Amino acid sequence: MILLQVATDVRENAYVPYSRFKVGAAIRAASGAVYAGCNVENVAYPEGTCAEAGAIAAMVAAGDTVIAEVLVIADSPAPVPPCGGCRQKIAEFAAPDVTVTMCTIDGASRAVLVADLLPGSFSAAYMARSDQG
Ligand code: THU
Repeated sequence: MILLQVATDVRENAYVPYSRFKVGAAIRAASGAVYAGCNVENVAYPEGTCAEAGAIAAMVAAGDTVIAEVLVIADSPAPVPPCGGCRQKIAEFAAPDVTVTMCTIDGASRAVLVADLLPGSFSAAYMARSDQG
């Protein structure tokens, strides 16, 4: 419930002069701390950042690197799914069994596991034969 409130509140701060589509995200880290993020667009469109990316950046900046739960909210006809890039960003810090709850501002929601959001995802294991592996 806390994540819903945090994501709903931060969504109001979204900077979206181009899409007019406000998104809020909240993350609960394994430490119990909660982090918020909203989308921040840019006149050079690809430079815009998603709400999930903002929440992840806040989490890492605060010293947490393990995601326990994610919630995303927008004013959409159906619960808003994270984009492909954000699925990869979430998977960097969340185990496959972590729940991502997608919400609409009128109360619809859908919960999906990270494993189902990004099946077959690239991970460090695939780098085993490189110098970094
Ligand atoms: N957006 C997010 O912030 N998160 C999502 O899960 C989907 C899309 C943003 C990016 C852009 O500012 C706007 O929504 C329209 O794509």
